[in-house]
Amino acid sequence: MSNVWAQYSEKVMEHFKNPRNVGEIENPDGIGHVGNPVCGDIMELYIKVNNGTIVDAKFKTFGCGAAIATSSMVTEMVKGKSVEEALEISNRAVAEALGGLPPIKMHCSVLAEEALKSALEDYLARSKRKDKKRVKSPKSIEPSLKPSTS
Ligand code: FES
Repeated sequence: MSNVWAQYSEKVMEHFKNPRNVGEIENPDGIGHVGNPVCGDIMELYIKVNNGTIVDAKFKTFGCGAAIATSSMVTEMVKGKSVEEALEISNRAVAEALGGLPPIKMHCSVLAEEALKSALEDYLARSKRKDKKRVKSPKSIEPSLKPSTS
């Protein structure tokens, strides 16, 4: 039997064995939840955003080694990026940052890209809702401006 590990780069193996940013973020600004219906793998990605910059990212992945490595890498790649920059991160960029993936495992990097996009979309949707609330609830009328009842 050929050595199956040889098709994975050192970086993939490193992120698979020591994944970065595993877990959840308390009160995240965006959550992405995606799954691959074919293999059944699931990925959840949490982001914290401050003034339009992603300051933290964590993930929980129930899946193959390549899915774990790509989740780990994508959380490293987004930190310090603006939301707009993060939206540009493709699955290919994640795979390249890992030193490549075997063709049969490229779909695992798609899961990472989709999880990130899903978290960013959630963040943008939450921001819109917050803006709407702000517009809908104007400050209460100053007491001095209330019509006099006397
Ligand atoms: Fe399902 Fe890798 S085999 S994401």
